[in-house]
Amino acid sequence: MTSVSIFGLGYVGTVTAVCLASQGHKIIGVDLNPLKVQRIQDGMSPIVEKQVQELMDSASRDGLISATRNVSAAILYTDVSFISVGTPSQRNGKLDLTHVRNVCSDIGQALRIKKGFHWVVVRSTVLPGTTEKVVVPALEAASGKKAGRDFFVCFNPEFLREGTAVADFFAPPFTVIGSDDPAKTSPVRELYGSLRAPLYETPIPAAEMIKYSCNAFHAIKVAFANEMGTICNSLGVNPMIVADIFKSDTRLNISPVYLRPGFAFGGSCLPKDLRALTHQVRELDLKLPLLESVLPSNEHHIERAADMILSLGKRKIGVLGLSFKPGTDDLRESPLVLLVKKLIAEGHDVRIWDDNVSLGQMIGSNRQFIDEYIPHIGSLLCSEIADILSHAEVVVLGTSAVPREAVFADLRDEQYLVDVNSLSEPVLKEEIKSPAVSGKL
Ligand SMILES: NC(=O)c1ccc[n+]([C@@H]2O[C@H](COP(=O)([O-])OP(=O)(O)OC[C@H]3O[C@@H](n4cnc5c(N)ncnc54)[C@H](O)[C@@H]3O)[C@@H](O)[C@H]2O)c1
Repeated sequence: MTSVSIFGLGYVGTVTAVCLASQGHKIIGVDLNPLKVQRIQDGMSPIVEKQVQELMDSASRDGLISATRNVSAAILYTDVSFISVGTPSQRNGKLDLTHVRNVCSDIGQALRIKKGFHWVVVRSTVLPGTTEKVVVPALEAASGKKAGRDFFVCFNPEFLREGTAVADFFAPPFTVIGSDDPAKTSPVRELYGSLRAPLYETPIPAAEMIKYSCNAFHAIKVAFANEMGTICNSLGVNPMIVADIFKSDTRLNISPVYLRPGFAFGGSCLPKDLRALTHQVRELDLKLPLLESVLPSNEHHIERAADMILSLGKRKIGVLGLSFKPGTDDLRESPLVLLVKKLIAEGHDVRIWDDNVSLGQMIGSNRQFIDEYIPHIGSLLCSEIADILSHAEVVVLGTSAVPREAVFADLRDEQYLVDVNSLSEPVLKEEIKSPAVSGKL
């Protein structure tokens, strides 16, 4: 049994309180709002949510839940504190951390007088960097103590949905604990020991970002479904038939496929079909901002890669891979072709290798595309990777057909490697040889 204080008795705090109490843990809730504190003291849930009152009844009966406005008492009588205060938007959209800062100041002052070690678990949704740059300094300043030595801070996002919050608490998609020392997270891990969900331990900023990644994706799914439904309705197509069949594909649609952070999409279908769809949207006088933003987003991604290469200030560029994906010679709308075109336009001396691309064998629309985009491509193509490596000051890895490690092993010290598929920063061979940065590879 762990004793846990929960700061912020809103939806997250209250659900967490009663669910942890139902597992036998002793809970002290803390809130600024005296009415919420009083309701819990009276054995009443401060929120309306399925199953919460039942869990509250048994927790009160068993003496496992109480609430107070006395922060010091809550800290002194518990080992672990959860922060689940609100993080609303400011008028301009910026995350408002006022409640987080205030609660850290309150907890820190209480920690100042606490003798034993204490765990602080941030559960409020905050942007990457907030726990390390706002929460930890605020706790250290108010307590006069040192994180890691006198108390431990970790980030543990909450994935419950209002309306099914209790069920979601007990069956989350996963539990994520972000910390700088997984050896110290055991009291937090143990609180979730009975849940049958994968547990991931990550650096703190990754844990903070996972929550935003999930919520952004959920929002995009809703907007996508609504926009597709809107076009369907305008065209007299039944949106439910389309949506049901779309969702039944768990290989490509509702699946991890296409969700790897990497380089832009291309090829003979996705750009063309999105263009046709968004043109149709305009003809129908509809406004579907999500669909209309996809091609511009993809173009920005290619520009980012070009900027990354241009910022190195080197002229001789070697590109490994040109087709839109490995194992094909299709160059139509390959993002690598578009990238090469940008580099050439900026006056760079580019050489290209792609095992599958042979101009002699290229016919039809594929040949036409490349003739239009890079008419002198024949003079840029090399048949050996070694020729690229001897030419280039910057080697751009555009294909997964050549393993990154193999390319890296053959680089000269002063050569840069830019792997557009990993979205990582350029690496310089001589830098990477130093053990301090070898993790970059
Ligand atoms: N509501 C959800 O479904 C949900 C799900 C996952 C994550 N989250 C995140 O969890 C956090 C909390 O969300 P919520 O919906 O429970 O918020 P809420 O607004 O319902 O509750 C926050 C509570 O914190 C209290 N509070 C503010 N400052 C305090 C302080 N210094 N000391 C003690 N209590 C204080 C407030 O009085 C309020 O009762 C937010 O960051 C939110 O984004 C919410």
